[in-house]
Amino acid sequence: MAQRRSPRISGSKIRPSPASAKQAGVAPVPGLTGSGADPASWHPDTRMIHGGVLRSDFKETAEAIYMTSGFIYSTAEEAEAAFANTKPRFVYSRFSNPTVQMFESRMALIEGAESARATASGMAAVFASLACQLKAGDRVVSSDALFGSCQYILAEILPKYGIETVLLDGRDLGAWRKALSKPTQAVFLESPSNPGLRIVDLEAVCDLAHKAGASVVVDNVFATPLLQKPFDYGADVVVYSATKHIDGQGRALGGIVLGSRAFITDKLQPFLRHTGPSLSPMNAWLLLKGLETLDLRLQRQCASSHRIAEFLSGQKKVETVLYPGLKSHPQHALAMRQMKSGGTLVTFDLKGGKSGAFRFLNALKLILISNNLGDSKSLTTHPATTTHQRLGPTLRAQQGILDGTVRLSVGLEAVEDLEADLAQALKAV
Ligand SMILES: Cc1ncc(COP(=O)(O)O)c(C=O)c1O
Repeated sequence: MAQRRSPRISGSKIRPSPASAKQAGVAPVPGLTGSGADPASWHPDTRMIHGGVLRSDFKETAEAIYMTSGFIYSTAEEAEAAFANTKPRFVYSRFSNPTVQMFESRMALIEGAESARATASGMAAVFASLACQLKAGDRVVSSDALFGSCQYILAEILPKYGIETVLLDGRDLGAWRKALSKPTQAVFLESPSNPGLRIVDLEAVCDLAHKAGASVVVDNVFATPLLQKPFDYGADVVVYSATKHIDGQGRALGGIVLGSRAFITDKLQPFLRHTGPSLSPMNAWLLLKGLETLDLRLQRQCASSHRIAEFLSGQKKVETVLYPGLKSHPQHALAMRQMKSGGTLVTFDLKGGKSGAFRFLNALKLILISNNLGDSKSLTTHPATTTHQRLGPTLRAQQGILDGTVRLSVGLEAVEDLEADLAQALKAV
């Protein structure tokens, strides 16, 4: 069973094995040099700023953007050797790229993973993490409370390729136990879930999954790399939409898959190399910049989210407020065991169903209507008609998404301004 560590991140030291940290921090790349320091000795905050840096001979301060599709060879023999993989070097940006590698190395250090590969979007990361390890005849068990496109992969795409998928209520350990009583190749889950903020007991599910022979893939988007460490509870693979908190400023799409060196090298890397969902070097650079401020942004966004969840709980136009950091959340104790704080998203049900929710959204003056999340700007959406529209009313109801449900992603604005905007918009409900 995975050894539980305290989920406190800031100020604590996570120590992956020195060998893996070294590898993740400074790759052996001719012409580029690492900082020379041992990133395993750094606090997580320092890793978010210096982790994975590779400098050219110009000794730039900020990471360089290697905006190139290809790389040149001095001789034909050198090209042959590059393709035979006998010498580490960059060959083509669909396979790897120095700026993208810096992002991958930094993320591996932060997450405490042996290795990582970036992708063009979060969905590319989710799909690749499953498709690279599954084949016809395999079986996947997943929680049913998922982001709409993740649900589509599980319910629609994988079965077309002869993969059996079982979707269950991720809160119900009995359901996991039953589904995992048969041999299974992969388990997929999202915790907290989008938008219902349902929590899965990571340690218990990883334990059951491993007994069934399954590898556990955790979509950790809502928790972010700083608030929850799935590897500490036994997860085998962690995926992110880096589009969300990692960029955090609404600029770039991106994704990342983290796991053991064997998984990344033998399964994921060939899949990515030959199917091509590569991250642009420009976006990798934006994501590197995003990581530098992630801890600070999250501290503020989590504190504001908690306060807003409390504020909404006292409003008569609001029927229910879900926030993992509030005692009123039905899985508060489990959430606080696995997460450092309740996160940056608050989901609430308004009186008046869809028309009440629409009146509320349309009355907002500061908070923006957008289906993105994790941004420095506060964003709100009506999941039933946007991100989860395709599911239909029955599946939505199973996930707790009602016609009056609104999801709020809390940004960096003054919390007083956000509360004032919410208060005036609630009058329209
Ligand atoms: C939980 C979760 N996983 C994956 C994704 C997909 O990420 P992207 O939009 O970067 O493809 C999202 C996007 O909202 C999400 O919320």
